[in-house]
Amino acid sequence: MYLEVRDLKKSYGENGSYVQVLKGINTEVEKGQMCVIQGTSGSGKSTLLNCIGGLDTAESGSIVVDGTEIVGMKQDMLSEYRRDQLGFIFQFYNLVPNLTVKENIQVCEYLTEHPLDINDLMQTLGLTEHQNKFPSQLSGGQQQRCAIARALIKNPKLLLCDEPTGALDSKTSRDILILLEEINAKYGTTMLIVTHNNSIKNMVHKVLIIKDGLIHKSYENEVRVPARELEDL
Ligand SMILES: Nc1ncnc2c1ncn2[C@@H]1O[C@H](COP(=O)(O)OP(=O)(O)O)[C@@H](O)[C@H]1O
Ligand SMILES: [Mg+2]
Repeated sequence: MYLEVRDLKKSYGENGSYVQVLKGINTEVEKGQMCVIQGTSGSGKSTLLNCIGGLDTAESGSIVVDGTEIVGMKQDMLSEYRRDQLGFIFQFYNLVPNLTVKENIQVCEYLTEHPLDINDLMQTLGLTEHQNKFPSQLSGGQQQRCAIARALIKNPKLLLCDEPTGALDSKTSRDILILLEEINAKYGTTMLIVTHNNSIKNMVHKVLIIKDGLIHKSYENEVRVPARELEDL
């Protein structure tokens, strides 16, 4: 099993403002699976993703990624884990505003031992003609493709996506999902995709629904709908 989460708990605040967001999450994801995480706003989707990504610290339980326990790991080891294994894609692209498209991607290229070919990747993502532009000169979809290129340049084993299409129109959302599907097929990248959209769950291997701090429902799709055929994006 590539990812195993056991009895994961996480709360915020203290005394009056104390809220337990994750109350004992149990789940697993196989290598190469695309997995959607759904749940109402505030149900803890981002918290779960951030704990798995080592951006937030769980208070108890276990998260094993590719045989390595993340919970309780020291900060420097966590940084190494994020650098070596993970790609992150967020709803708001978090590009560096005063770097060009190519430079934004290069920042991550230099951090990695075996990066993908940057020119091939920009070609695949339709960024070649935009490579010398700054983020402010791009549309939302183009900025997201740049953010995806930045996440993918190191060919991460695990791609964590928090509302990757949340800020995009339906046509651009589809393009981004087709891209994620292609990357999954080509590189076997394991993906966790948090989304509000009810349609995206039909294209992935596995679906997790969080409610009241627990996994409320978990199932695998026997038949997957290709991204290009998804309705109501
Ligand atoms: N850093 C934080 N400090 C305090 N409360 C937080 C923090 N992050 C998230 N929360 C709270 O935890 C709950 C779950 O948040 P989140 O994981 O962002 O939900 P989702 O992504 O499902 O919308 C919310 O009630 C939110 O207000
Ligand atoms: Mg969220």
